[in-house]
Amino acid sequence: MSKTATLEIDGKKHEFPLIVGTENEVAIDIKTLRAVTGGVTTIDPGYKNTGACESAITFLNGEEGILRYRGYAIEDLAEKADFLEVAYLLIFGELPTQDQLDKFNADIKEHSVVDDDIKKIIDAFPKAAHPMGVLSSLTSALTAFNPTSVDVDSEEEMYNTVCKIMGKFPVLVAWTMRKKKGLPLNYGDSSLGYVENILEMMFSKPNEDYKQSEILVNALDKLLILHADHEQNCSTSTVRIVGSAHTGLFASISSGISALWGPLHGGANQAVLEMLEAIKEDGGDTQKFMSKAKDKEDPFRLMGFGHRVYKNFDPRAKIIKVAADEVLADLGVEDPVLDIAKGLASEALSDDYFVKRKLYPNVDFYSGIIYRSMGIPVEMFTVMFALGRLPGWIAQWKEMRARKEPIGRPRQVYIGENHRAFKAVEKR
Ligand code: SDX
Repeated sequence: MSKTATLEIDGKKHEFPLIVGTENEVAIDIKTLRAVTGGVTTIDPGYKNTGACESAITFLNGEEGILRYRGYAIEDLAEKADFLEVAYLLIFGELPTQDQLDKFNADIKEHSVVDDDIKKIIDAFPKAAHPMGVLSSLTSALTAFNPTSVDVDSEEEMYNTVCKIMGKFPVLVAWTMRKKKGLPLNYGDSSLGYVENILEMMFSKPNEDYKQSEILVNALDKLLILHADHEQNCSTSTVRIVGSAHTGLFASISSGISALWGPLHGGANQAVLEMLEAIKEDGGDTQKFMSKAKDKEDPFRLMGFGHRVYKNFDPRAKIIKVAADEVLADLGVEDPVLDIAKGLASEALSDDYFVKRKLYPNVDFYSGIIYRSMGIPVEMFTVMFALGRLPGWIAQWKEMRARKEPIGRPRQVYIGENHRAFKAVEKR
């Protein structure tokens, strides 16, 4: 592999260094491009070919369907670790010792009370408000109740801020769901584990003791691990670019929640369930919906299918598909949309349109089926995605600030009007 790339413009050659990552990914370092070429830049809508940063957190290989957090395979982590261990790994770079994990858990519990005044904010929302809009607002409001923005150069302050958001975010998630259900807002039980406490806060009723279910705890723990990070996806890139202006961590994460809300991104898990329900209501005619998905005149897309990076099976989808079968069987739930999903997937995987475009089920295709079997309302599915992605957003924001990356400010190619003289209104 040569060490440089050569670009020739108007007969003049310019050499740029090649960067090679630890997994042999190669990038052209164009940091000097404008300067050496007298103003030439690049353009790449959607950044399909453009790397925004060097990162040591998550590695994806889209052609081979590989996903690793800090070098550990997602299959191993989903099977052998728990969510808090994985959160620690993503944020601090190593799997925690038992002492480190116990301390992390205890420190998070220390910070898992949310200022009661935040209830006034949530009360101002109509019940019909989409939970992602509520969650984004409440997360940004955390800044008002924790005004000191973190000194990123202080390890201790950074650690405390991480524990604060890891402790308070699940409360906001639970309150968002309880608000919709008209249930009183609670604080959970700090004698419980991290995921047990999330379930307690989401589902406990004021007039009865909440019975923990090992099936639900294990299912949710695995789903949170599978959603924890995914390198420079839309919402993570949003968190990084907002943070690059030295905006605080809570406000940066609030912007990431808004980006994740979109149906092309995290909002797809809700859109998949709505699509599967529509197919069921329509008599289960999957072929009709496949034709709509392939019709360029029809804006309908097969939600939960396709991915910017994976041109092979999303490894998370494979794990979630197996888990969906197990959880529904364990819960004794018969959900016809799971069979519709499987039928749709097998048809698409043998259909030339999807095969040619390398469109496979992604993380969102089966996850909603598990969430629904757990009693989570469909509008809360993307909130659950955000709950899982929280440690990834924290880790990526922390890495960007630690590397002292410059403020993100892309260039453009102007295609508007050339200079023209002002015209008085009577002459227009
Ligand atoms: C997530 O980036 C991440 O890592 C995200 C994520 C994470 O963990 O953070 O993995 C989570 O967001 C998963 C993706 C969830 N979104 C969906 O399931 C929505 C449906 N899928 C798409 O809209 C689409 O596949 C995207 C947005 C996921 C990817 O879009 P790209 O990479 O911009 O690809 P594209 O839109 O250019 O599509 C290429 C071709 C086009 O056809 P042609 O113009 O070549 O004829 O494939 C077609 C598209 O029309 N296509 C689809 C399709 N997805 C792509 N056709 C029908 N149904 C689909 N789902």
